[in-house]
Amino acid sequence: MNSRQIRQSFLDFFASKGHKIVQSAPVVPHGDPTLLFTNAGMNQFKDVFLGTGTRDYTRCADTQKCIRVSGKHNDLEEVGYDTYHHTLFEMLGNWSFGDYYKKEAIAFAWELLTSVWKLPKDRIHATVFRTDDESFELWKEYLPVEQIHRFDEKDNFWEMGETGPCGPCTEIHFDRTPDKSGGPLVNMGVPEVIEVWNLVFIQYNRKPDGSLEELLSKHVDTGMGFERICAVMQHVDSNYDTDVFMPIIKKIEQLSGEQYSTSLENTVGIAMRVISDHIRTLVFSIADGAMPGNEGRSYVLRRILRRACRYARNLGFTEPILYKLTSIISETMGDIFPEVPQNLEHIKRVIKAEEESFLQTLDRGLDRFEEIEISLKNASETLIQGSDIFLLYDSFGFPADLTELIAKERGLTVDLAGFKELMDQQKERSRNARKQVLQQVEGNITDSKTTFDGWTSLQSQSNIIHFADNHIITETTPFYAEMGGQQSDYGTITIDQEIYSIRNVQKQGNAIIHIADREILAPHKPIATLSVDFNRRWDIQKNHSATHLLHEALRRVLGNHVQQSGSLVSAEYLRFDFSHIQKVSNSEIKEIQALVNDKIRERIEVITRELPIDQARNIPHVKMFFGDKYGDTVRVVTIDEQFSSEFCGGTHVQNSSDIGYFHILNESAIASGIRRIEAITSFGIAQYIADLHHTIETEKHTIDSLHDSLKSLEKELSIVKVQEVSSKLSELIDQAYHISNTSIKLIPVKTDRLSMEELKMLGDNMRSLIGKSGIAVLSSIVDDKINLVCIVTDDLTKEYPAGRIIGDIAKRLGGGGGGKPHMATAGAKDIHKLDEVLDSLEQIIQKS
Ligand code: SER
Repeated sequence: MNSRQIRQSFLDFFASKGHKIVQSAPVVPHGDPTLLFTNAGMNQFKDVFLGTGTRDYTRCADTQKCIRVSGKHNDLEEVGYDTYHHTLFEMLGNWSFGDYYKKEAIAFAWELLTSVWKLPKDRIHATVFRTDDESFELWKEYLPVEQIHRFDEKDNFWEMGETGPCGPCTEIHFDRTPDKSGGPLVNMGVPEVIEVWNLVFIQYNRKPDGSLEELLSKHVDTGMGFERICAVMQHVDSNYDTDVFMPIIKKIEQLSGEQYSTSLENTVGIAMRVISDHIRTLVFSIADGAMPGNEGRSYVLRRILRRACRYARNLGFTEPILYKLTSIISETMGDIFPEVPQNLEHIKRVIKAEEESFLQTLDRGLDRFEEIEISLKNASETLIQGSDIFLLYDSFGFPADLTELIAKERGLTVDLAGFKELMDQQKERSRNARKQVLQQVEGNITDSKTTFDGWTSLQSQSNIIHFADNHIITETTPFYAEMGGQQSDYGTITIDQEIYSIRNVQKQGNAIIHIADREILAPHKPIATLSVDFNRRWDIQKNHSATHLLHEALRRVLGNHVQQSGSLVSAEYLRFDFSHIQKVSNSEIKEIQALVNDKIRERIEVITRELPIDQARNIPHVKMFFGDKYGDTVRVVTIDEQFSSEFCGGTHVQNSSDIGYFHILNESAIASGIRRIEAITSFGIAQYIADLHHTIETEKHTIDSLHDSLKSLEKELSIVKVQEVSSKLSELIDQAYHISNTSIKLIPVKTDRLSMEELKMLGDNMRSLIGKSGIAVLSSIVDDKINLVCIVTDDLTKEYPAGRIIGDIAKRLGGGGGGKPHMATAGAKDIHKLDEVLDSLEQIIQKS
């Protein structure tokens, strides 16, 4: 199986077990200050475990993007030097919220691994928490005791962080040793025997004082390392040799002209592994809104990026290359994680800018490192002083852990405490400097005035006129602030090579305030480069122009009473509220949609004019909004003079055909006399189709599995039905009469509502009960038809073959049939003749 099929079969398996398939949460957690990055699939369900939140399902499954580079779970140091640790990995997980517990969780895991994926049972080992006898006993159903191991808190008690949900766990390890001798190597940190799946039984909350609080319900939280299971299933020794990483490594080979080596010591191999790992972390975290920078989460990303740059340098790259690897990730994973292709241009831009900035100093920094190394050697010392680490940090942009890494490679150590002291001093200096700059640019916000220059150009430079915390105001900006229903632009603002992510822009008075992802550091020069995310703006514009067309189409189809009472224009969809008394019928919806699409296909140029208010008012049928205050001049957006002209401050496409296609999703009432239409265009439609496809696939699996269960229930029911009738067979045999002058027993059996299959089962039972010298004719009426089965004991099949008998009987009942000498079946329809025929069996058989 390729990795895509493996992921899908995991999700399908749990869907078939009644689990709802949910989306991965972003890697940048929202609203959890205890986490820098999402580090486990369960993070998004923390509230359910703690009992502070609920979901409308009790079982679910997903694949979750996880980053483990800080805090309790940190795998950064291992990356590249082994085959199975990553800064970012996918965790396949299934959850039970107070629903099933240990027994089912273990049974599901076993079924998936051994029945669906057919992994060899003698290579599977389970570990359990030292006191968890229950799990030990459960595993004994599947594994010999030599393959079940007990471990203590370090390995078998899982905790999310310093605080939060936790509990004992049972882990599944896979033995890849050639002779299956890996038992003693479980949990020894060797690549031959690796943990693939962790089933956690969440039953406690770790409190800040370290104590454990018992939770009200017990839950299951499992996590399987996707890249590891891919390696196992694809029979390769290293995660990097799977189709998850190989396309990235191939691209690095192609760009560098170097050949990848699987050897753990080979420097080219290490560099390619590190780069292919780190680039995934950068791509996914930037796609979810994080940015490299100087503080907190941003600095973690910058450190990762700089580490990757330094390894790229080892491969001989002197120009930025990391950004060139982003497309391959988007191509290979974009269908599962659409946020990557959606933000690809932004991701590329950010990574390239960061690389360019670091490359300016990397070589000089490496030279400086050499000098430090030489002088240490000359003095027969090995410890790099805090002041040198600080110099490399401050003048050459080397994060301390990068210096430490290079030092380790060369047998040197680092004085991190000395470095920290110098860092603290620098922070103090910068706090003071910041105060001064703040005084320079701190005006009263209400005096600030920003000019919007983003009608056509989406990038510009401008003076900063105010900043505080994460708010920044510039003289001009291409960012459209949230206004008139149109959502704000996203993008970046760069100040002194520090890139801030902007995802919220608000207008206050005459000022446009950009709200950044983090605190704005005091700039050396008060100048900012502002750059708007093109794709998002483009999608918003399509939806905005489509809203104007929809507004007019509604008036044409429903009547001129239609007035806009609210609207929302986002990148994903548009929402339009309007006055109309009754439900809009399906045929009206079709007509409205067709009218909008006609206007799209007419390729109408969208004309925007600034006009004096009096002139604007006189445009035929112009839409202006009652109660809105207009200045002396207004903007009017026209899409076909005869169709739509509207007073509007928003941004639009240049030509109606840019919208692509328009589709109404929904029509509903939101208040008395107010209806709401939700619609999508262009990429929104593409996304909708992809989601629909996914839902259909999931539903299909659920239906298939329901169908399977129904079949097996029907089977069980049949058995019960047949057993019930069978219990009376002996009685019937006792009452049987004999064919005249013979010892042949003749037994008519009349039953009800047994299908042909069930009747055959009954026939089988009958045959074995009679044993010798007997003929039975079994009948059952189902849905106005007669099912007939004739059985003949072995000693009589020559003289009285069942096929012949049944043929004769069926003929008299208006049907037909046949079969083997010992058993034959027939269907017939003359129900009213059945009794008569069964009564005259002897004559029929004699004549046959
Ligand atoms: N939360 C557990 C882990 O991260 C299982 O999903 O290993």
